[in-house]
Amino acid sequence: MKASPIPQLLMALLLASINSRKSDPDAPITASFRSMAIDGQFTTHDVSNAAMDFGNRYHFLPSAVLHPGSVADIAATVRHVFQLGPSSRLTIAARGHAHSLQGQAQAPGGIVVRMESLGRAKNMHVHAGESPYVEAPGGELWIDVLKETLRHGLAPTSWTDYLHLTIGGTLSNAGISGQAFRQGPQISNVHQLEVITGKGEVINCSSTKNVELFHSVLGGLGQFGIITRARIALEPAPKMVRWIRVLYSDFTSFTEDQEKLISAEKTFDYIEGFVIINRTGILNNWRSSFNPQDPVQASHFNSEGKTLFCLEMTKNFDPEYPEIMMQEVEELLSQLRYIPSTLFQSEVSFLEFLDRVHVSEVMLRSKGLWEIPHPWLNLLVPRTGIHAFANEVFGKILTDSSNGPILLYPLNKSKWDNRTSAIIPNEEVFYLVAFLSSAPCSSGQDSLAKALKQQERILEFCKKANIQMKQYLPHYTTQEEWKFHFGPRWEEFKHKKQAYDPLAILAPGHRIFQKAVASL
Ligand SMILES: Cc1cc2nc3c(=O)[nH]c(=O)nc-3n(C[C@H](O)[C@H](O)[C@H](O)COP(=O)(O)OP(=O)(O)OC[C@H]3O[C@@H](n4cnc5c(N)ncnc54)[C@H](O)[C@@H]3O)c2cc1C
Ligand SMILES: *[C@@H]1O[C@H](CO)[C@@H](O)[C@H](O)[C@H]1NC(C)=O
Ligand SMILES: *[C@@H]1O[C@H](CO)[C@@H](O)[C@H](O)[C@H]1NC(C)=O
Ligand SMILES: *[C@@H]1O[C@H](CO)[C@@H](O)[C@H](O)[C@H]1NC(C)=O
Ligand SMILES: *[C@@H]1O[C@H](CO)[C@@H](O)[C@H](O)[C@H]1NC(C)=O
Repeated sequence: MKASPIPQLLMALLLASINSRKSDPDAPITASFRSMAIDGQFTTHDVSNAAMDFGNRYHFLPSAVLHPGSVADIAATVRHVFQLGPSSRLTIAARGHAHSLQGQAQAPGGIVVRMESLGRAKNMHVHAGESPYVEAPGGELWIDVLKETLRHGLAPTSWTDYLHLTIGGTLSNAGISGQAFRQGPQISNVHQLEVITGKGEVINCSSTKNVELFHSVLGGLGQFGIITRARIALEPAPKMVRWIRVLYSDFTSFTEDQEKLISAEKTFDYIEGFVIINRTGILNNWRSSFNPQDPVQASHFNSEGKTLFCLEMTKNFDPEYPEIMMQEVEELLSQLRYIPSTLFQSEVSFLEFLDRVHVSEVMLRSKGLWEIPHPWLNLLVPRTGIHAFANEVFGKILTDSSNGPILLYPLNKSKWDNRTSAIIPNEEVFYLVAFLSSAPCSSGQDSLAKALKQQERILEFCKKANIQMKQYLPHYTTQEEWKFHFGPRWEEFKHKKQAYDPLAILAPGHRIFQKAVASL
């Protein structure tokens, strides 16, 4: 333990409060933080960095950044703020990899905790055996979890499309990808969590111990506690992946085939899909992430201006016995109704497949197209509404998909634990529809405004057509909207907030609850 914190923090906190008010509500902090001994450090030079995220649209400056040296550092900080009570305005945001879209990992005027400081490979423990699992810090990136577990021939069971996200960040939402139809989201594949509540208590919880806290935190948008460790289910890691894409021009055949595949006993290991809207015709990048060994007719397929739907799936296999896989794939493909000339297949390692989006990241970064505004919208649309939705949105509201991918694939509700905080539509099958737009300056000043306007129209349409969708990675600005989002579960959510973070210190960036500050 080394004596800390540094004086800049105190200065910053003082300045912040002097700037906002004449009588300094956070004056007691000066004294209380000075007496704190922590392993890591508080900094202020990087507050502008802590006000950035992937969305690149919201920038709220914190007063200080905590680089924790231990779980105890975070607990002590939360406890401190808790003990200051309503006389202090300070809030605390855990920051994973800051791949939030609208400031969810930011803390205006508060303290941002860099969770990645705790995420180091030496802190990961893989337990092989009957039901294998890995214990990892909450700030660990999934790519590092994968690399570590692969050394033991094991891997987590449920994923996100992109792995440069942290455990705590995705478990606070759900963690959805093409495995979720069968494995459930990532929050269905966790055995235990170590959590720091809004009172600064460090608590282990699971489905048998501190059960309510466990389920609250999963999908809980960071509202109930900071995840410092997670015990994640593993399975034997596949070696290779057969990766397949096919095109449809008919939305009904596309979704019927998707649904057939997700409900089949023997099926693919990963099933997703995306929408291609290109009025100009030639589709030269619908399989851009593949190695260039595809048949010419597939790579230069002419859409004739129609909207197309790409079904994407994978089958895992052992390169020593490819025959079984080949046979199964053939059998499955023979039941599908895609446009025959558009079958495209590739073989990659399991790691290469899971880390596929990182390849695009590197490419986009090199062109300066990564750190730009990302007006994303993710919706969970119930099956009964998906046709009306597609009819209105693809081709009418959206006339081009060149601003970023539009993912569309079905999920099975029974793989979601209804005790978690995640909010999903009330139907057996619902679709993830993800509009993953970029708004680079190069496409004009108004490209961001245009994307936001389109999203507004999509949301308005859902309301008008009474499509009971739910936002994934939800973003709202008023408590009324949040109430509507949670629906019948709002009171329960509020009640749990009262129990675990009664002063509303944690994750203020979601703007669900406002910290009550006593007027002096
Ligand atoms: C390129 C890209 C691809 C994506 N693909 C997918 C996908 O396929 N599937 C999917 O489900 N999501 C996907 N996402 C969304 C992603 O899951 C969320 O944006 C997630 O919040 C990002 O994780 P993060 O670690 O960067 O979290 P942050 O943005 O840092 O934090 C997110 C929220 O969780 C809180 N939080 C962070 N760490 C902790 C912790 N340890 N304990 C408690 N709360 C914490 C924060 O305060 C904040 O409220 C993608 C995002 C990007 C940018
Ligand atoms: C939680 O459990 C882990 C082991 O699974 C242990 O290392 C840790 O100390 C426990 N934390 C608390 C607060 O009991
Ligand atoms: C959803 O999963 C359950 C449980 O595995 C299964 O019984 C059901 O058939 C699945 N439904 C669909 C539509 O896939
Ligand atoms: C759409 O067509 C144009 C012209 O052929 C091409 O340059 C562009 O890359 C296509 N977009 C997609 C998403 O395929
Ligand atoms: C959750 O699902 C179980 C069955 O899996 C059901 O009995 C229970 O009523 C559900 N709870 C809620 C709140 O929907």
